[in-house]
Amino acid sequence: MLPAQALGALVPAALLFLAQGAAADNTGTTTRYWDCCKPSCGWAGKGFAVGPVGTCDKDDRPLNDNGATKSGCDDGGSAYMCSSQAPWAVNDTVAYGYAAVRIAGGTEASWCCQCYELTFTSAPLLGKKLVVQATNTGGDLGANHFDLAIPGGGVGIYNACTQQYGAPPNGWGDRYGGVHSKADCDSFPQALKAGCSWRFDWFQGADNPAVTFTQVTCPSELVAKTGCHR
Ligand SMILES: *[C@@H]1O[C@H](CO)[C@@H](O)[C@H](O)[C@H]1NC(C)=O
Repeated sequence: MLPAQALGALVPAALLFLAQGAAADNTGTTTRYWDCCKPSCGWAGKGFAVGPVGTCDKDDRPLNDNGATKSGCDDGGSAYMCSSQAPWAVNDTVAYGYAAVRIAGGTEASWCCQCYELTFTSAPLLGKKLVVQATNTGGDLGANHFDLAIPGGGVGIYNACTQQYGAPPNGWGDRYGGVHSKADCDSFPQALKAGCSWRFDWFQGADNPAVTFTQVTCPSELVAKTGCHR
């Protein structure tokens, strides 16, 4: 046992340690996907104040159905992810987009339509920031995992892109990971081209880069495209 005086002297160091520990808890992983399915936060009653996340019909027109239409990834479903929910560059250091997430200790009721500022921690994106709004949940995601919605990023488990856009049976490129180069985006449906190219421009073709993250108030630009906020 340390005398009280010695303990007092240790406090600043202990606080510093705690602060570093808290930062370490906010590390996350990323992957990428674009499966064209209706995102999970597109159903009513997922903890947001205004919502759900807007979805689109096969021709990319807003459904305005308050989340009632079944997903194009389910039998007989006809609701799809809108092309407007693709990422874009705000400037060289900041981009906005959407993601399927799983946050440690949370549920959809806590993360649907919440925004997170992701800071990349490795080259080539070191220090760049991507602010994402959570529109979806992945049953296959680990804790503090952001599956970034990037057209041409791979359809993953589900695939409605064949139904919606006539994509190849396993989606564009590899089922997991998607297309390999910006040139592969040239043959994309017009509405998805810019989002596909973003991965090779602002995102510099990074492959599942690690991040640190903090919860932030959503920029109005992200809310404007989904119609959903906390
Ligand atoms: C980039 O955009 C963000 C968000 O609008 C802004 O806060 C930041 O100052 C901008 N950075 C530069 C270098 O323009």
